[in-house]
Amino acid sequence: MKIKINNKELEVLEGEKIIEAARRNGIEIPSLCYAANHKHQASCMVCVVKNCETGQIIPSCSTIVTDGMNIDSESNEAKELRCQSLELLLSDHIAVCRPPCKPKECSLHKLATEYRAKWNKYPRYSAVKATSPQHIKGDFWFDVTKCIRCGLCVYNSNDGFTFKDRGFGMQVVLPAESVKNVDESLCNICPTQALYMSEPEFLQDE
Ligand code: SF4
Ligand code: FES
Repeated sequence: MKIKINNKELEVLEGEKIIEAARRNGIEIPSLCYAANHKHQASCMVCVVKNCETGQIIPSCSTIVTDGMNIDSESNEAKELRCQSLELLLSDHIAVCRPPCKPKECSLHKLATEYRAKWNKYPRYSAVKATSPQHIKGDFWFDVTKCIRCGLCVYNSNDGFTFKDRGFGMQVVLPAESVKNVDESLCNICPTQALYMSEPEFLQDE
């Protein structure tokens, strides 16, 4: 089966998603709520690309390739929508990211910089208050103020991670008592380092 991405003809596998086919062939499409080989639900709309046949802008992390597909991941429309998606996420994010904000490790920060997304484009809706990071277990911490509710931890953990409430008030809840096996891989797929191992630097300095 063959498709084109950015005018490059690629051999693709039946059943794979556009983002998988692209990355397997060295074409990077940005994403936040997708992690290879993990369960996810397309929610961030950062991975959008243009289907040149239909003119539609589609999420590449949830759209399965079809023979002859012609995709443009760098179209202006896709980039504009990507930027809007980032601005919406930023509007729902706490205004000042608490230390240790590590821009190099935060995919949201990196993409916002790359796409020149404005932190204040939309009214600030976040219901998240500036609270201290929650100590979960061992070296495992959760900082709700950095969480973009992508759901990767919720869909890929057996430790009772869940969503509380809906809409702008929706938050990830980690019942510390139900976390049995601290799973470092969850920290690795968390796009914003809301989940992290080891004590935050500002507490270490105390
Ligand atoms: S803690 Fe991280 S992985 Fe979990 S929903 Fe928030 S941003 Fe996503
Ligand atoms: S990465 Fe595709 S919708 Fe988030």
